[in-house]
Amino acid sequence: MIREFEHIDLRDRNSFHVAQTAARLVEFETPDELRELFSAGAPRQWYVLGGGNNILFTRDYEGVLFCPVGEGITTLGEQGGTVRLRVEAGVEWDVLVAWSVERGLWGLENLSLIPGKAGAAPVQNIGAYGCEVKDALESVEMFCVETGNMLVMDAAHCGFGYRESLFKHALRGKVIITAITLRLSRTPRPRLEYGDLQREVEALGGPTLEHIREAVCTIRRSKLPDPAVTGNAGSFFKNPVVEKPVAERLRESYPDMPLYPAADPTKVKLAAGWLIDRTGLKGYHEGRVGVHDRQALVLVNLGGATGGEVLAFARKVQAKVHEKFGVAIDTEVNIL
Ligand code: EPU
Repeated sequence: MIREFEHIDLRDRNSFHVAQTAARLVEFETPDELRELFSAGAPRQWYVLGGGNNILFTRDYEGVLFCPVGEGITTLGEQGGTVRLRVEAGVEWDVLVAWSVERGLWGLENLSLIPGKAGAAPVQNIGAYGCEVKDALESVEMFCVETGNMLVMDAAHCGFGYRESLFKHALRGKVIITAITLRLSRTPRPRLEYGDLQREVEALGGPTLEHIREAVCTIRRSKLPDPAVTGNAGSFFKNPVVEKPVAERLRESYPDMPLYPAADPTKVKLAAGWLIDRTGLKGYHEGRVGVHDRQALVLVNLGGATGGEVLAFARKVQAKVHEKFGVAIDTEVNIL
């Protein structure tokens, strides 16, 4: 069913809880409804708003926000221990992870408790604890705004990288994701290489699906603020990927600096949280915006901050990191 709202307050529709408004917001469930909504052409300005967990509104939005609300999860079939699922864009991501864990399906457990909707997952190729959604994704269904047709794109063609996909670039403003198809496994495939995960899972009694989900939830709750309580959008910045010699030079001055392999073997990924922490900004706040005191990659709205205040504060954090390390950190959050 289509539901339309005019001049709507977005405070409860963005996890930063900034008090901006949208001229129009339209909830839709099916591709047919989208076709109907775009039958007279696309609005001059529009954007897809999922759970609003990776967005910072810095002003009132003058266009139309389209929100997918279809919540179906369908099993498409099972073969040789692989189960294929079709998940509509409006399914809450963590509801899907819980659903799959309950049914003994491996593949999403490390991505437990990531806020957001399933339709948004491929856009930034959500990832945590050594896994990314692209690892379990088979294809993405989308509505093409220009032609009014539905397209199905194989995961291999979606241009996935670290927090990257074609949906952020070539396909931005051209398609609306309506569903995703995943391939999960009945065969246990624990992925415990990352950080504290192994220790936490052992403490719970070993690598079952339930234990991994519980361990990931525990680690995330201990580091990341709950957006229902404190406005935030998870990691505000991406971990920067730099040329190897740059990383080596920095390592000489900071021997304890974490380094991670990057997809491109001539490059290295640095930890933006560590860099911000080392500038002394962890827990620092100015007015109604601050750096979270347990994870420096997260900016928090301490109550009533505007999007503009958050952005100005973020620019200061970027400048400080650049001043100290000569490294640019980009925002991970979409800024509107
Ligand atoms: N670190 C610090 N101080 C901090 C934060 C981190 O020194 O305040 C150090 C840590 O000790 C560690 C390194 O930096 O050595 C990396 O930190 P962490 O393991 O917490 O992960 P991250 O790189 O900061 C990424 C994702 C998170 C994801 C975690 C776990 C990005 C932008 N962020 O954070 O994703 O949960 O790994 O896999 O890649 C999100 O995208 O919203 C998000 C929360």
